[in-house]
Amino acid sequence: MDPEKIRKDFPIFRERPDFAYLDNAATTQKPEQVIDSVSNFYRKNNANTGRGLYKLANDATKIYEASREKVADFIGAEAGEVIFVRNTTEAENLLASSLEFEGGIVLSEMAHHSEQLAWRREAGKEGKELKYIETKNGEISLEDAEIKIDQNTGVVAVSHISNVFGAKNPIEGIIELAHENGALVILDCAQSVPHMSIDVKELDVDFIAFSGHKMLGPTGVGVLYGKKDLLRGLNPYQVGGGMVKSVKKERVRYSDPPHRFEAGTQNIAGAVGLSAAIDYIKKLGLEEIHAHDLRLTGKIKKGLREIEGVNVLSSEKSILVSFEVCGVHPHDVAEVLSQKSVAVRAGNHCAQPLHEELGMSGTVRVAPYIYNTEKDVEKLLEGVKEVLEVFDV
Ligand code: ALA
Repeated sequence: MDPEKIRKDFPIFRERPDFAYLDNAATTQKPEQVIDSVSNFYRKNNANTGRGLYKLANDATKIYEASREKVADFIGAEAGEVIFVRNTTEAENLLASSLEFEGGIVLSEMAHHSEQLAWRREAGKEGKELKYIETKNGEISLEDAEIKIDQNTGVVAVSHISNVFGAKNPIEGIIELAHENGALVILDCAQSVPHMSIDVKELDVDFIAFSGHKMLGPTGVGVLYGKKDLLRGLNPYQVGGGMVKSVKKERVRYSDPPHRFEAGTQNIAGAVGLSAAIDYIKKLGLEEIHAHDLRLTGKIKKGLREIEGVNVLSSEKSILVSFEVCGVHPHDVAEVLSQKSVAVRAGNHCAQPLHEELGMSGTVRVAPYIYNTEKDVEKLLEGVKEVLEVFDV
């Protein structure tokens, strides 16, 4: 994989050749191929889907459904098990509102607010017991999961990869534990799908959620996967046009999944863009991408650890790196780096309870992806050294 060559596909790096964009866990940049696919859809194929009977509308429907098939194939699912949503947050809210289940909810301490708040609200409304699995060495503790998941658990909602630590959680063990106890598992894959291959059938996971914009796709399109039998038993999250078989004054019959969960006109061009993003990722190869990310995060961690006063939180196999510069607020670190054209995220990364648990107000997060180079890493490390000089720590 040649990041310098890859950068040429990204218009933003033509505008800003020296820009070290290292905030890919927040959102990725978009290649020409994705931008063109969205633009071409509007130029050549735009019509509403699943409604019109003329050729343009039929073609638009075919293109939209082909995008669904592309997504399904990418995660080892069937097309009928893929629901297009706005983002991971919407997928979690959809499930938390629609899923009817007995028993309590188990989350993890490291949960992003998107997976945490939807389920916490549900627990509050329904008076359900809520438990948090502890973190151990930057991963969800399987030992603690064995204590927290029991016969009274109905739902386990955890992240495949935490957006703060960046390491893969022991989800195989958690899924097995949950299923042994008759609970359903919802996996937040927002940080994993862009970096590693996922097969939902192999994992035997019940639901997964992820966002298109973190994997080179457009903003405003995301995915909820659910096992087809489970989706058939779910009530719709929103109601309206495009999700009904028939509406009479006395009775409404909803469509089958996935359309039952796609009320109103969808982000059709977004789905088309996501499909182009998957093509782009597949061409590079997820194994190559993962190896590249690990190579860069390895260098970042090594470099940061050599700087006195820097404390690295992320563990060895992480796809991103969170750290603190002792005595300097994370926002100040990000500001100094920004002046050197290095973009990182600073703060609690929508995981405030985790930072409370760690006794930190925030961290600095560096998240490389396919177009990041060793030069970007060097600029980052130089920038961090400058932070220490500026703040005299
Ligand atoms: N969830 C995104 C992040 O962690 C926005 O930055």
